[in-house]
Amino acid sequence: MPQNLTLLDSPGWNALRKALNQRVVVINERLIPSKRNRVWVVETDVRPVILKRSLSGKAEGEFAHLAKARQSGLDVPFPLYRSEDYMVIEYLPGERCDSLINHMFSIKAAECLAVWLARFHEKMGDGGRPMIMADAELTNFLLCDGRVYGVDLEDVVEGDPMDDIGQLLTSILGSEPIFTPVKFDLCMRLMDAYENESGSETRESVRPFVARHLRLSATTRPLFRRTLLDAARRLEHDGWPVLA
Ligand SMILES: Nc1ncnc2c1ncn2[C@@H]1O[C@H](COP(=O)(O)OP(=O)(O)O)[C@@H](O)[C@H]1O
Ligand SMILES: [Mg+2]
Repeated sequence: MPQNLTLLDSPGWNALRKALNQRVVVINERLIPSKRNRVWVVETDVRPVILKRSLSGKAEGEFAHLAKARQSGLDVPFPLYRSEDYMVIEYLPGERCDSLINHMFSIKAAECLAVWLARFHEKMGDGGRPMIMADAELTNFLLCDGRVYGVDLEDVVEGDPMDDIGQLLTSILGSEPIFTPVKFDLCMRLMDAYENESGSETRESVRPFVARHLRLSATTRPLFRRTLLDAARRLEHDGWPVLA
């Protein structure tokens, strides 16, 4: 019989008890949309928490990255407990940045995302080697109490910080409504905020990274394939469009 990965199994319940207390009462649990792993919001008589079951085998690394980020003063949820593939993490009652950007075109969210990444690149470096989030998609950020939090650190790896900015800009431009002027405007503001916070030139340096992520995105989104490939080519050859 295939394993049902949408149900919480006993190692999951055990992790919850260890993180909170043995007699914890679970009031409600809800599976929430996620890209790769299984993520539940669990309401309990102690506090609401996130229970994440890693299907990628990267729970140990993710837990350590969350702890390091937290210690460095970055805005990430508090990692409470890990056992094997299960992690219990502080629940953040925030709004997802994909809806703030795609439905509300929030300039504040775009600028806070840039500041979050600049601080992440500054603080998470390992002996001078820059570490990047490597999954800088809008869905991996929440706005909570006026601050942006990065929630998904399973892919953190050594790399070029411009790759994160390129991925985030692609996530903004390439999510619906796709390539509208307001999206380009949000991207410009995000790049300016990153440049301000990090002191690194961004608009020009990031172009090849955006083009690469647009092409990667084209491989998984057949309906938008041509639009994404055209945009990558234009960005490389002509640069950023001039907004009136
Ligand atoms: N600490 C948290 N508090 C509130 N919501 C969270 C938290 N962590 C994750 N989420 C929500 O769950 C979704 C999936 O979590 P994520 O860690 O990104 O899983 P995956 O690795 O499968 O992409 C996120 O997009 C976010 O909406
Ligand atoms: Mg994710």
